[in-house]
Amino acid sequence: MKPDVLVPGIHRVYARIGSRDLFEGIWPIEHGVLLNSYVVQGSKATAFIDLVKDWEGAVGEVESQLESLGLNFSDIDYLVLNHMEPDHTGSLGALCKKNPNMKILCTKKAVPLVEAFYDVRDNVQAVASGESIDLGGKTLVFEETPNIHWPETMMTYVPEDGILFSCDAFGSFGQYDHCFDDELTEAEWELLIPETERYYANIVSSFSQFVTRGIQKLADLEIKMVAPSHGIVWRKEPFRVINHYSRLAEYMNGPAEPEITFVWSSMYGNTAALVPIIKEAIEEEGVKVHLHEVPKEHASHVLASAWRSSGLVIGMPTYEYRMFPPMYHILDVLDRSHVNNRKVMRFGSFGWSGGAQKQFDPIVQALKWDCLGVVEYQGAPSNEDKKKAIEVAKALAASVKEWK
Ligand code: FEO
Repeated sequence: MKPDVLVPGIHRVYARIGSRDLFEGIWPIEHGVLLNSYVVQGSKATAFIDLVKDWEGAVGEVESQLESLGLNFSDIDYLVLNHMEPDHTGSLGALCKKNPNMKILCTKKAVPLVEAFYDVRDNVQAVASGESIDLGGKTLVFEETPNIHWPETMMTYVPEDGILFSCDAFGSFGQYDHCFDDELTEAEWELLIPETERYYANIVSSFSQFVTRGIQKLADLEIKMVAPSHGIVWRKEPFRVINHYSRLAEYMNGPAEPEITFVWSSMYGNTAALVPIIKEAIEEEGVKVHLHEVPKEHASHVLASAWRSSGLVIGMPTYEYRMFPPMYHILDVLDRSHVNNRKVMRFGSFGWSGGAQKQFDPIVQALKWDCLGVVEYQGAPSNEDKKKAIEVAKALAASVKEWK
């Protein structure tokens, strides 16, 4: 792999991470993920923006790309840490041993994290919004953007070239053969958009109000290129990804898209019996359904489609007087990500006793969901249950379509 030239003097050096591992130890990355670092060379000094962690040989890969630029880690004068999560800092301890004179630039909130994670105290300089470092013909200007993704996060902007190094913000899951948006093939676009949305839902969604604030803080910058630390570099249409993130952030409190995420679990088929009936009733109203059976499908994918859907159908049986455990996990994930203000229906079977609904009700209340109906039954659904399910499903579809 070779470095990519963003503009003369600024390169991306990066690593491809495959699909075998889980991102953050939770999220599947079936299409892999990219870890991007950037080198900014001025006439007086060289800066390195965001590291990689030692993951599938990433550090060696980045080092060999640096060497192809005639550089090595000991040539770095400034290391910019936009964000402390270890996917962008994991090799910091080793790098400090190789280059003890390098100055580390990060926010004030990141300083104690540098010590806590890597036992590094020397040469760490806190920078604040508006402060800058002159590299000679290239200036690094810092902008604190807290909680995109951790509280200590910032972005770095090079005004001479209009390049914004945004770290997690404006990132995506997935590997891409091409670096820039104007180079992507149709197949790469088909991967990029859903993998951007899944990345957003999985990693960033909990902090959506900060995404909105962060984007507002960038309003005065003349952004010509967005260079995140995951995914591609947006060179032709940097505002395509910024505006997309802006819209994704708005989904938090609804309305999102006029679609329905239908997530269901079943033990012996009695809850499953209503799945095709409800799905068909919704689709007859012209509303798109994203169907997920759990636990067969990972919460990552359920969260991604729930985030973009104004409506939710939750199908689950009672299990030992409570909600079916895999669905409890899904609802916990939706709660943590603040999938608020959705139009909802629930259905499900119970055996000797109910109980799922009693545990479900406080979740509906906490997430400010508007529950349009519940169809709960002992054993198999009766014809009356099926009729009610169709009625509620159609009302749900109508309310999702009307909600603007
Ligand atoms: Fe890519 Fe929040 O780390």
